Amino acid sequence: MEESQHQLFHSHRLATVGRLAAGAAHEINNPLTIISLNIQILNRLLRKFFDEEPEIAKRLQVIAEQEERISKIIQDLMGYARPTQPKFCPSNIGEIMAKILAVLDDRVSMQDISVVNNIPATTPMVMVDPLQIEQVFMNLLINANHALPNGGTIGLDTGVENGFIEIKVSDNGTGISRENLPKIFDPFFTTKKEGEGTGLGLAICHSIVEHNGGAMRVKSESNVGTTFTVLLPIDRTSRLKAMKERLDNVTAVGTPQKPKENCRILVIDDERFITDMLKETLSTVGYETDAAYDGVEGIGQLRFKKYHLVLLDIRMPGKDGLEVLKFVREEFPETKVIIITGLASREEIQETVKHGAYACLKKPFLLEKVLETVNAALEHVCDLGVKAGNGT
Ligand SMILES: Nc1ncnc2c1ncn2[C@@H]1O[C@H](COP(=O)(O)OP(=O)(O)O)[C@@H](O)[C@H]1O
Ligand SMILES: [Mg+2]
Repeated sequence: MEESQHQLFHSHRLATVGRLAAGAAHEINNPLTIISLNIQILNRLLRKFFDEEPEIAKRLQVIAEQEERISKIIQDLMGYARPTQPKFCPSNIGEIMAKILAVLDDRVSMQDISVVNNIPATTPMVMVDPLQIEQVFMNLLINANHALPNGGTIGLDTGVENGFIEIKVSDNGTGISRENLPKIFDPFFTTKKEGEGTGLGLAICHSIVEHNGGAMRVKSESNVGTTFTVLLPIDRTSRLKAMKERLDNVTAVGTPQKPKENCRILVIDDERFITDMLKETLSTVGYETDAAYDGVEGIGQLRFKKYHLVLLDIRMPGKDGLEVLKFVREEFPETKVIIITGLASREEIQETVKHGAYACLKKPFLLEKVLETVNAALEHVCDLGVKAGNGT
């Protein structure tokens, strides 16, 4: 009884902490986006004027790296506090693992560490979100790497158990003490030095695996090693193979296009700085761009002038982005809409796509990415020209 009350209290506290973290992350994300945009612009300006000043370039690089670090923590926090619904699709663990190992080979120093991968190239198909599962194994492998400061072996094994595929990631590293073992899945529990770990990795892994219908186990002994086991449900439906082939055949969107002349863009975001910065950037590359600072003002502008494209924030006071999107689809069906959003859930994003948004970009975003998406969206629009009124 006492134990279950303790559990209840523990999970209630975690839920509160989660909400708090999500709120804080959202508040931090907007100013962070502004900082990120300014760094990108500063970079461009300085490259133009101080081409041969290594000191300036070096310091900018440090700022950009640290901004990226904060951004990563914020993304992790949002991912943990508000886990996105998995996008289930038939997946092959063998393939996922091979992909991760290739990435790790390039990025992480694996000196004196040998990876023994006993997972065959094809394993029974599982119905999971492959990107989320990739994140899980990436975290487990990075942790194993950290647990082997003097080298050692990381083993990857697989088996089948009661309708689940079982994937084991083991290392013969430092191990986890008996005292710490119950805490390792808690958010922010870390034994690593400041800057080396946030303690969010395993909390996120656990949450992802549960959302994908699986489970996680750990076994460890100090100075002997650790084995993490991930169980994922095997899907036996015969449609899996066909679906996978169809998915593989979906090709990526076209290459970025040059900005089109005579295209008019409206940026609507209640965060003034972001709106102005986007307006400035789009104007610089040749688009006629206007700004509106909330949904009501945006709709006023749209009634007043014809736009080929709208860059639209979702969360705004008064009329939010979804309402503006619906207005645009009804009144000006030929106008393209690109959503720019901070802490939108996957449901909200799906909702915008359902209502006809062309694309959805997450804050903080890269200006290059915005330009690329805008150019792609306008590729044919300006050729055809936007007709006045609610033309069909
Ligand atoms: N393979 C491992 N070997 C030893 N300790 C581990 C291993 N994986 C995780 N841990 C312990 O669990 C803690 C939490 O891990 P994690 O949630 O990924 O956060 P972080 O890696 O940022 O510390 C680590 O700080 C470490 O003490
Ligand atoms: Mg970690």
